[in-house]
Amino acid sequence: MKRHTILLILSLVHLSLTLSAQKKPVQPKSADAIDIKVKTLLAKMTLDEKIGQLNQYTSDRLATGPLTPNSSKFNEIKTGKVGSMLNVKGAKETRMVQELAMQSRLKIPLLFGLDVIHGYRVTFPVPLAEAASWDLGMIETSARIAGKEAASAGIHWTFAPMVDIARDPRWGRVMEGAGEDPYLGSLIAGARVKGFQGKGLGSLDAIMACAKHFAAYGAAIGGRDYNTTDMSDRTLWEVYLPPFKAALDAGAATFMNGFNDLNGVPATGNSYLQRDILKGKWAFKGFVVSDWGSIGEMVNHGFATDNKQAGMLAINAGSDMDMESHSYIVNLAQLVKEEKVSVVTINEAVKRILRKKFEMGLFDDPYRFSNEEREKNTLNSPENRGAARDIAKHSIVLLKNDNQLLPLSKTIKIIAVIGPLAKSNIDMMGFWSVKWDNDHLVSPYEGIENKVGKTTKLLYAQGCDVTDTSKANFSQAVATAMQADVVVLAVGEHFDMTGEAKSKANIHLPGVQEDLIKAIKATGKPIVVLTMSGRPMIFNWTADHADAILQTWWLGSEAGNAIADVLFGDYNPSGKLPISFPRSEGQIPVYYNYKNTGRPSTNDYGTGYKSGYTDLQNSPRYAFGYGLSYTQFELSDLKLNKISIKPNENIKVTCTLKNTGKYAGEEVVQLYLRDEVGSVTRPVKELKGFEKVYLKAGESKAVTFVINKEKLSFYNQKMNWTTEPGTFDVMIGNSSDHIILNSKFELVQ
Ligand code: BGC
Repeated sequence: MKRHTILLILSLVHLSLTLSAQKKPVQPKSADAIDIKVKTLLAKMTLDEKIGQLNQYTSDRLATGPLTPNSSKFNEIKTGKVGSMLNVKGAKETRMVQELAMQSRLKIPLLFGLDVIHGYRVTFPVPLAEAASWDLGMIETSARIAGKEAASAGIHWTFAPMVDIARDPRWGRVMEGAGEDPYLGSLIAGARVKGFQGKGLGSLDAIMACAKHFAAYGAAIGGRDYNTTDMSDRTLWEVYLPPFKAALDAGAATFMNGFNDLNGVPATGNSYLQRDILKGKWAFKGFVVSDWGSIGEMVNHGFATDNKQAGMLAINAGSDMDMESHSYIVNLAQLVKEEKVSVVTINEAVKRILRKKFEMGLFDDPYRFSNEEREKNTLNSPENRGAARDIAKHSIVLLKNDNQLLPLSKTIKIIAVIGPLAKSNIDMMGFWSVKWDNDHLVSPYEGIENKVGKTTKLLYAQGCDVTDTSKANFSQAVATAMQADVVVLAVGEHFDMTGEAKSKANIHLPGVQEDLIKAIKATGKPIVVLTMSGRPMIFNWTADHADAILQTWWLGSEAGNAIADVLFGDYNPSGKLPISFPRSEGQIPVYYNYKNTGRPSTNDYGTGYKSGYTDLQNSPRYAFGYGLSYTQFELSDLKLNKISIKPNENIKVTCTLKNTGKYAGEEVVQLYLRDEVGSVTRPVKELKGFEKVYLKAGESKAVTFVINKEKLSFYNQKMNWTTEPGTFDVMIGNSSDHIILNSKFELVQ
């Protein structure tokens, strides 16, 4: 064999060995094997190196809190003083920063965390909008794609899902969660965790999920972000904790605590939450990260005298990693010396973090997520954009459709697209978008333009800006409307009007937008209003007078296309509100699963010494679970297979759904239960099951729900999770305020 032939063979062998080494998946490791590795590594670590693992800094590029004045972060990484970075992103950048960690004595890899809340490059609808799809498979897919994209860009860990129940639309962070209901919220929490974590930690396309903000942050008093929360243990366990438990059961690798104080104890320094419940009763094996600066903020809360004492309180309460308070890195060693924090406590926190780094395969290859080639091939693929469009159209809620104005015909001669958001694409991204692709955003106007044929003429007028107080441009908008056969009006909020620190006392449609709608309506032209926001807004006049209304939220990269799909009937809307839309801020909190009281108001009005307002109905403008379709559905034939059960028996509830209209479509059949009498008072109804059913025109289907002990249980006076004998009401409907079928059964001892 000639020398060059031998060399060629050798290099081919080398190449194939290298490729197979690169391709070799990281073997899943047994818990015991990881335990041994963690212990072995821990034994080699100095106290300072251990404390370094508990320290998380941000990259200076993105920040939701005050930035650290410390410019020496990179040196600290090299000396093993940092365990994780947030806001470093992209395969190239993460590799560069990881290289610094590889210069440290023990070469412990960094974890890169980022708020991947609703997509990475391809932006999905904001989480509240997705929740309106009531489609768990789609919600999981959305998180799956976000996870894949982020993992290809060097990210190991998302600070999502936010599973805080939110009953107050003034709170800007309602957009980040799944709405007001613990049952729906729990299922969505599980779906999102599964989506992000895919086949499990160690897969190259899976990122760690983080259930946040533990706990009760969503109950911030008055809807003011970061505010105090104060509630009974019963409300905590019945309403606010279930989605966290569901996230944990789905395998959430991490939890984040919160900014709020709960019943006087800040969540970050709260050992009842973190030690007793999460790591104790629930046996959570992952780690807890603080919220941004929330350890240090315990000084402002008046719970700690200084950052040092705050650190002591936080770590002793079970907060493992310090996000940007610089409390642990500065103070923990001294606190150990003073015997205020034990090495055992520190070891426990370090072990939890190291375990995740092992599970992610980072000790095998610290750069395994930082592959520019994979990043290029993964981001913004047509399939991912297709999925974003799909879920966006499923998230739209049809609030009104008088005289079947919708769907519009694609051959209408002239359509006027009017309003401050008609040509906006950035606003469609919504708050908490990370790395969207500016070149591929679709405004409502563009979506409509893409949809209609050449024979349709589109006109445009802005009318006003979102927050304008001037009506100077109304006349031009009115003149434009006058020329059209139908008007589509895009109104709502700019993307940064609902989100963190975006609480509002006034959640009416901002500025003069509702006046614009009035002016256009006065032309006599049929109007379709698209309401766009991250929160429920109030628009009573519009609700009374517009011909059709679609709540289109902030739908992400494919917003305009998804809106056009629905406007023109290529997709029949099926969304249902995951949160009540109030009539007035004065009703807040308004939610469907309230208690009856001793003096329930009659006919929704609280007159005559009843529990209600003298100047307003009790009910919201649009209730939880509400949403129309272009077709009509009929529910009938409610049957229970038993009328009396024992606690360990199940009851089967069936009914028939029929599509009696002329379009194919989906309906969400909703099952609510009421425990009529209990040793503690029970809500007037609670969602306990739902099914989203697709039917062609004329088709019917039997829908079955199984009611088991779990669905009948509640916390009794002693806070034991149990059932009590008695009568249960079974209610089936297409909204929490539209129950169509009723029955009852007895639970006997
Ligand atoms: C938010 C968290 C977020 C963190 C990091 C904080 O201000 O409350 O939800 O994960 O910033 O960006």
